[in-house]
Amino acid sequence: MAHSASSITSLPVQYTISTRVFGCTHSPSVEKKFYASCKDLNSPVEKLFLNETAATAALERANIPKAVRSFVSFSSDPTHMKRWEHAANIKFTSVDGVPAVEADFQSLTRDLGACIAIPQLYGQDFLDRNPTLLSDFWTFDNELFPLAIIGVPRWAPIKPVRDGIAAQSRLHLALQEFYHRVAQLEANQPIDFNANLSDISPIPLSRIKTYVAHDWTPKERGQIELGLLWGQNANTQPVLFWLLTYVYSTPGLLPRVRQEITPYLTLDGKGELTALDIASLSRSCPLLKACIYETYRLVNEANSIRYLTSPVPLSSSSSTTTTLPSHTFISALMSLPDHDPTVYTSPETFVPERFLETSADGKLVARYGKLRPWGVGAGMCKGRTFAEKEILAVGAAVMGMWDVGPVGGKWELPERIPGTGVQKPVRDVRVVITRRGV
Ligand code: HEM
Repeated sequence: MAHSASSITSLPVQYTISTRVFGCTHSPSVEKKFYASCKDLNSPVEKLFLNETAATAALERANIPKAVRSFVSFSSDPTHMKRWEHAANIKFTSVDGVPAVEADFQSLTRDLGACIAIPQLYGQDFLDRNPTLLSDFWTFDNELFPLAIIGVPRWAPIKPVRDGIAAQSRLHLALQEFYHRVAQLEANQPIDFNANLSDISPIPLSRIKTYVAHDWTPKERGQIELGLLWGQNANTQPVLFWLLTYVYSTPGLLPRVRQEITPYLTLDGKGELTALDIASLSRSCPLLKACIYETYRLVNEANSIRYLTSPVPLSSSSSTTTTLPSHTFISALMSLPDHDPTVYTSPETFVPERFLETSADGKLVARYGKLRPWGVGAGMCKGRTFAEKEILAVGAAVMGMWDVGPVGGKWELPERIPGTGVQKPVRDVRVVITRRGV
C-alpha cells in the first residue's frame, strides 16, 4: 500500500463502486470522464474536510448547540417534531413525573448527525427541499448497498433491491436538481424555486465547474454525486450512535467524560446548551477522544482495495520476495487486528483507556496506536478530520445536556453485524431520554 501512486491506485475500485453500487450508468464515455475528473472532484473535498481550521469552522456554522437543545422536542405531534425525530418512533412519557421521551436511539442519533452534516456540504435548502432524503439514504445504505457490493444485479427481483433502487433514484434526482440550481447560481441565472443557496459549501461550487468542463450530463452528475453524500454520512453517523451508546452504557464512564468536557460547554440557568468550544474539545479532551478511538476499534471495518498498474514486489518476514503481477486487485482489511486478543486484551469490551498515554511533558493524550480506521496511502479517507470533529462535537453536546438510559432499566447492547463500513446493530436500542440532572 505504501508503493508509489503510479503503480497502485484506488481509481478502478472507485469507478466499479460508482457504477455497481452508486448507480452511475456505465459507458465508455462515463468511464473516460470519471478518470479525467476524479482528482478535481476530490480536491475541494480535501480542502474542507481534511483541514483542521476549515472543518472546525464548518461545524461552528452548523450551530450544534441549537440542534442538540432540541435533540428531543417533547412533542407527540409529528408536525412539531424535529426532522431527526421522525424515524425514531418517539413516545412522550414521564419519569417520576418529569417529562421524558422514549426513542429508537440509532435512528435518532444517526439522523441528528445527518441533519447537522448535510447542510455543511449542500446547504440547508437541499435538506429542506427533499423530505424523504434521510429515509431514502438509509434504505439505499441498508438494503441495496450490501447486495450491490457483492455483485447482486440491479434487475434481481427481490424487495431490498427494488426498494433500494427506488430510494437511490430519488437521491439521484435530488442531487441532479441541486446541481442544476448550483449551475444557475454559477451562471448568474434565476434559481429554480428562488432557492436560497447562500450557505452551500465551496465543494459544489467547485465540483460544478469540473462537471461542466468534462461534459457530465445533468443525470450523470446526480448519479456520481451520490458517492460523496454517502461518504459523508454512511460511516460518520453510525459511529456517533455507537459512541453515545458505549459511553452511556459503560458503568462510571459518563461522569468522567462530563467532567472533562464541562469547561468547553456553556449551559444557561435552565440547563440549555448555548455554546460549544469545538477547538478546545478537540485539543483538551483525551478521554473523549479515546472513547471515539475505542468506538472505531469495535465497530469500524476499514478496507483498502487497490489495483496494481505495474508489478509490485512483496517482501515477507522470511525475507523471500514475490512479485504481484500488474492488473491485480489487492485488499487489506485494516480492521483485522482490531478484534485480535493478542493485540488488544479483552477485545470485545469497551475500554477507552487502552488509547490513553502520558506524553513526554506529563500530559494525558489519546493516540491511535495500531488503529487504521481511515484506510491507508493516497486513497485514504478524504473526510476524516471533519468526521472525527463532528462525532466529537455532537457527542459532547448530547452528553452535556441529556441523560439517556435503557427502557426497562438494564442496558442490553445488540449484536453487531457487518455493515457498509461500520458495523450495524441487529436491532435498534430503545432508550428513555430526559434533561440532564433530572
Ligand atoms: C467515521 C466516519 C468515516 C469513516 C470511518 C471513513 C472511512 C473511510 C475509509 C476506510 C475509506 C477508504 C480508504 C482506503 O481505501 O484506504 C474512505 C474513503 C473516503 N472517504 Fe471516508 N470515512 C468517514 C467519513 C467521511 C466523510 C465525513 C467524508 C466527507 C465527504 C468522507 C469522504 C471519503 C472519500 C471522498 C473517500 C475516497 C478517498 C479516495 O479513494 O481517494 N469520509 N473513508
